[in-house]
Amino acid sequence: MTAIRFGPTGIRFSPKHVSPSPDIKKGAPHVASVTLRNIIKVFGEHVAIKGIDLDVDDGSFVVFVGPSGCGKSTMLRMIAGLETISYGELTIDGKLVNELPSRDRGISMVFQSYALFPHMSVKENLGFGMKINGVAKPEIDERARQVADMLGLGPYLDRRPSQLSGGQRQRVAIGRAMVRDPKVFLFDEPLSNLDAKLRNQTRIEIKKLQQKLGATIIFVTHDQVEAMTLADKIVVLNNGKIEQVGSPMELYERPETRFVGGFIGEPSMNFLEGTVTRDGAIDCDGMRIPVPSDRFDLPKHGAAVTVGVRSEDILLADQSQKPEFAAEFEAPLDFVEMLGNESLLFLNYQDRVLVSRVQRPRPMEVGETDRFFIDGSRIHLFDGETERSLLR
Ligand SMILES: Nc1ncnc2c1ncn2[C@@H]1O[C@H](COP(=O)(O)OP(=O)(O)O)[C@@H](O)[C@H]1O
Ligand SMILES: [Mg+2]
Repeated sequence: MTAIRFGPTGIRFSPKHVSPSPDIKKGAPHVASVTLRNIIKVFGEHVAIKGIDLDVDDGSFVVFVGPSGCGKSTMLRMIAGLETISYGELTIDGKLVNELPSRDRGISMVFQSYALFPHMSVKENLGFGMKINGVAKPEIDERARQVADMLGLGPYLDRRPSQLSGGQRQRVAIGRAMVRDPKVFLFDEPLSNLDAKLRNQTRIEIKKLQQKLGATIIFVTHDQVEAMTLADKIVVLNNGKIEQVGSPMELYERPETRFVGGFIGEPSMNFLEGTVTRDGAIDCDGMRIPVPSDRFDLPKHGAAVTVGVRSEDILLADQSQKPEFAAEFEAPLDFVEMLGNESLLFLNYQDRVLVSRVQRPRPMEVGETDRFFIDGSRIHLFDGETERSLLR
């Protein structure tokens, strides 16, 4: 049988990659935990993955997020068995699988490129893996129909991929992963080719589907909003290492590093460089930010720190109560982005841009100068050298 080549990843999609697990027809869901112990990946001289430890629980939705090139796809491909593991141990369902071929790992992968067979109908695409494994036709049809119904693809079974919208194609790709009844689903940026509206819709569908199936999912994206909305557990990767693992709210409220603070949240966290004053406040080029002393492990007087402030914690003075711990400053508006229920104000503060998010905004104009508070009890502080959080 000839192997078919597709997609930017250039994976050889030979039949062995699509063989269904043996008990595909049975209704019982198969879920499994995945553990990574000191996983390292070396490409020639380049260490792409620098020692990853992680537990993915049965039935959980784990998202790897990070900037382009940080190693997300490499991680996923090692779990899938499409890439060898240089060092470390990978287990699926408690079993060491480093040397196990992809087809025997009980995983299914969905790619950004959909990777559908263009000359086959939806039904044939869904049934292909079963067909080459010699499953009888009535059974293939039944299973394809089941999965199609679950994904709302029932009316499209006889269409070819070219006769479907992007969102429908992506659902076929997901369906093809589902017919195999895998223990673990792996998704590599599956929504990146969809327009914004469809991406939101499909995101919700994937989340609902996971709740229905109780499946274990490892999902890769560079989009932090996608990560926040889908994940039970987010793994922030940077430069081949884990920056932080946590629930979406943990990452938002307690970023352990400056990188995580800046990466999670939209608009990005504002950063101001400062130093610790003798009386335990922060001085940022003349702006004094008082902070509650029990909240941080403050370094000694004069030490360099980075203050992180979320846009919602820069308050427009004439619309807000002055917080107990408040820095006060004036700045002209460089730009105003009106979103209806709220506005984003881009302030020019000493030639830096600070972004303030204002709820139920009054009319505001570019060029006007306003007074603002920074709520010192809501700020984040990072060590100036290590960039690690100083939160207690
Ligand atoms: N087959 C390969 N050979 C050499 N280097 C690779 C290969 N695949 C990925 N890399 C490198 O490994 C790093 C991580 O890549 P990748 O996992 O694709 O990142 P991401 O998916 O997060 O964008 C990058 O520096 C990339 O250039
Ligand atoms: Mg990638």
